[in-house]
Amino acid sequence: MNNTLLAIDIGSSSITAVIAKHDLESNINILGTGLQKSEGVNKGIIINIEEASKAIKDAINIAKRSTTEVIETSVVSISGSYTKSIRSSGSVNVPNGLITETEINQVMQMALYNATIVPEYEVVHVVPIFFKVDDSVDVDNPLNMNGSRLEVSVYIVTAKRTALTNIKSALKISGVDITRFVLDGYASAISVLDEQQKKFGATVINIGSTTTEFVSYKGSSLIFNGFIPVGSNHITNDLSVMLHTPPAAAEKIKTEYGSLTKNFSASNELGVTKVKIPRIGDEDTHSEVALDYIQTIIHARVEEILVLVKNKLKKSGILDNAGSGIVITGGMSNLEGIKALAEKIYDGIPISVSNPKNIENGYMSFDDSRMSTIVGLLVYSLGINRNYELDSSKKLMKPVKKQQAIVEEKTINNNSINTKSESNEKSDLSLKNDDPTILTPLRKDNKKGVSKFWSKVSEWF
Ligand SMILES: Nc1ncnc2c1ncn2[C@@H]1O[C@H](COP(=O)(O)OP(=O)(O)OP(=O)(O)O)[C@@H](O)[C@H]1O
Ligand SMILES: [Mg+2]
Repeated sequence: MNNTLLAIDIGSSSITAVIAKHDLESNINILGTGLQKSEGVNKGIIINIEEASKAIKDAINIAKRSTTEVIETSVVSISGSYTKSIRSSGSVNVPNGLITETEINQVMQMALYNATIVPEYEVVHVVPIFFKVDDSVDVDNPLNMNGSRLEVSVYIVTAKRTALTNIKSALKISGVDITRFVLDGYASAISVLDEQQKKFGATVINIGSTTTEFVSYKGSSLIFNGFIPVGSNHITNDLSVMLHTPPAAAEKIKTEYGSLTKNFSASNELGVTKVKIPRIGDEDTHSEVALDYIQTIIHARVEEILVLVKNKLKKSGILDNAGSGIVITGGMSNLEGIKALAEKIYDGIPISVSNPKNIENGYMSFDDSRMSTIVGLLVYSLGINRNYELDSSKKLMKPVKKQQAIVEEKTINNNSINTKSESNEKSDLSLKNDDPTILTPLRKDNKKGVSKFWSKVSEWF
């Protein structure tokens, strides 16, 4: 066993592959990272295996350039677009009066057995909502407790088998056998929420390029997940259609002048009120458009997304008890003013905009809202932030008991995407082995600017 892990986030705009290794102390070292423009993926679903396989293979190959370690396990994100979630419960007798991992596994398997799984769907997560030992309710972790009966209430996420098979096929071409599937929104929540937020309850909304995934936590358990097939690319399309400009120009306008605060834009230092844009089909001809008009188009789409999510959360009863509030992440959370607009739409529920917890390394900055899912996949695989659960192969995953450490990988490979200088700038955030907090949640306000790497990504559009 060499503990080398490959994590892959298959997003609609980019595919991220990270090779990492964790040792017996459960420290994690990043050994390589690869990022490719996504192809053949839309709204969270693989729509062209050949194109998707190539993009995935390229991302993995870039990550592999800096390591010769044999990959032992792999974990890949899946979209909520093809999932169905249900609740179930189970109970078992405890013959020896002392609860061990055998009984915990048995009761979780029993809860899964008792559930009615829709045909053609496969189990991805079986997460305990609460355990009960004899008469004591809401037991966090029943291990080593005395009792004669153990009960569990679980949240089960299942996913359409054909969609999972397509992901497996796309990865097979790169010689990767998937060990685990992890729900995208679940991974994002794992990477942006702290323990307090999980305990008191929180909802994480990840707004990506073509999808918006959201999950809710309560009492450190996943209790709800949802999805809408709309994301930041829809703003780009709206701008392209309404302003008669090519999509690449629309994308640039969105990221440079996009703001939900009237007449404001972070990169609009000169205070322009009109923007010159190329015309579709005749890119040498430019027309002038009022910034006000651009921002009205953007505002309408973002408002629509936030209201659609709100309606889904309301219907599920989540908004009646929002706990510590709502955390927005994903690429679109970079849009200036999104916090204020969400506060207005969500009627006073506390809103924050968060990046994932950082993992210092010499390859890539994880201090970016687009990295929430990939960081969550790494943290999930390590067992940090997790209770017992059955994974997508129905095996019991155990929480790691000792304090976790995520340490800096010292080796730098020049072939990899290198954001070393940026990592150095953030040396105040460096994670030290002896620091008990280890993973540091990064708020947007602490951000010193979007990485050079991501500006390169925007050139793809
Ligand atoms: N400042 C910004 N304002 C609005 N959108 C932005 C901004 N910066 C980046 N984005 C958008 O974020 C998206 C990329 O985000 P992310 O990497 O989270 O998506 P993804 O995971 O690839 O897609 P998905 O989750 O939908 O499959 C792109 O559509 C990009 O235009
Ligand atoms: Mg995403």
